[in-house]
Amino acid sequence: MKIATIVGARPQFIKMAPVSRELRKYFEEIVIHTGQHYDYEMNKIFFEQLNIPEPNYYLSVGSGTHGYQTGEMLKRIEEVLMEEKPDLVLVYGDTNSTLAGALAAVKLHIKVAHVEAGLRSFDKRMPEEINRVLTDHVSDYLFAPTETAVKNLYEEGIREGVYLTGDVMYDALLYNIKIARKKSKILRELGLKPKKYLLATVHRAENTDNRENLKNIIEAFIESSELIIFPVHPRTKKCLTEYGLIKKLEKADNVLLIPPVGYLDMLVLEENARKILTDSGGIQKEAYFLKVPCITLRERTEWVETVEDGWNVLVGADKLKILDAIQNFEPSGETYTYKFGDGKASKKIVEIIGEQ
Ligand code: UD1
Ligand code: UDP
Repeated sequence: MKIATIVGARPQFIKMAPVSRELRKYFEEIVIHTGQHYDYEMNKIFFEQLNIPEPNYYLSVGSGTHGYQTGEMLKRIEEVLMEEKPDLVLVYGDTNSTLAGALAAVKLHIKVAHVEAGLRSFDKRMPEEINRVLTDHVSDYLFAPTETAVKNLYEEGIREGVYLTGDVMYDALLYNIKIARKKSKILRELGLKPKKYLLATVHRAENTDNRENLKNIIEAFIESSELIIFPVHPRTKKCLTEYGLIKKLEKADNVLLIPPVGYLDMLVLEENARKILTDSGGIQKEAYFLKVPCITLRERTEWVETVEDGWNVLVGADKLKILDAIQNFEPSGETYTYKFGDGKASKKIVEIIGEQ
């Protein structure tokens, strides 16, 4: 069987790493990289650190509006699929690369497998929600990371081809955390002591594309007076500069702006943070896996289990709520229901693909 894996953005490189390692034991895999993320620290560093096979096709789509980006991807992916004629297309998560890959495949009558199927924020203003819903509705295999995801699909009438596998990001973390602890020098490089700093990331469109939201978030960071390590996503850097907010942050003694870091450094920064502030989907989960309190800079989350278990609190872009959570949010630490599988999601996914 020939499988085409389609990826393009940072979290997808991390998600594909454990699955690809397993897939290649049994099947032929070709990797199609849309080029959605292209900076070294958003892209190549992950291929290097996680030993991901070099893409067979790099489509160089780059940045643009949703229509432009998704349309260009669709066109270019279709060309490759017509030439390669894979038996199955594998897509991950909820980015424009995911939707373009799924659409290109289904229109060519190629089977689609969606890893991280069934996630919902129930907020259609999020581009990711549109991408998830549409991808799920054209997929043949829906690999759901959680029971909540299976239930969401069931309620939308998707009842066939749904498999509860656990979360491949948990597999990736378990595989890499020991390597990260050994190899990463980030704490020393930044002069950080374990549990004496907070870690922050922001990149979600609802925060970056809204000046007021971004301003509230960075004001909360500054006014907290806590040491905050902030690896800045390129989208956020662009918006902070555009809104004239970057200088304010650069001047603040307590906020350390750094470029995006590789996965190994990120795991170490997460594990040693006293708390994490983020609007990232993946980082909310990693905080939970590592039992670090997470303050989520969103109104809703797809990863409801992390909130139900008391490890994650949703504060949106509300300055006072963010400040309050920085000061006072302390999970009891008693509830931990391990709803993300057993670290063998990738193996299960490959077994299911092999059974067909
Ligand atoms: C995308 C995904 C989002 C995911 C995130 C992971 C969509 C709609 N969004 O958001 O779901 O959480 O990736 O990080 O697919 N840029 C660079 N260099 C890069 C990449 C981006 O400078 O290597 C800048 C460009 O100015 C670009 C902007 O970041 O316009 C946004 O990039 P884009 O890929 O459109 O969306 P993300 O915000 O990265
Ligand atoms: N990540 C990283 N370096 C960073 C920021 C994030 O390695 O500077 C990793 C993080 O550990 C997680 C993934 O990228 O595994 C999350 O990706 P991101 O936040 O970009 O997207 P989302 O998960 O929100 O789609």
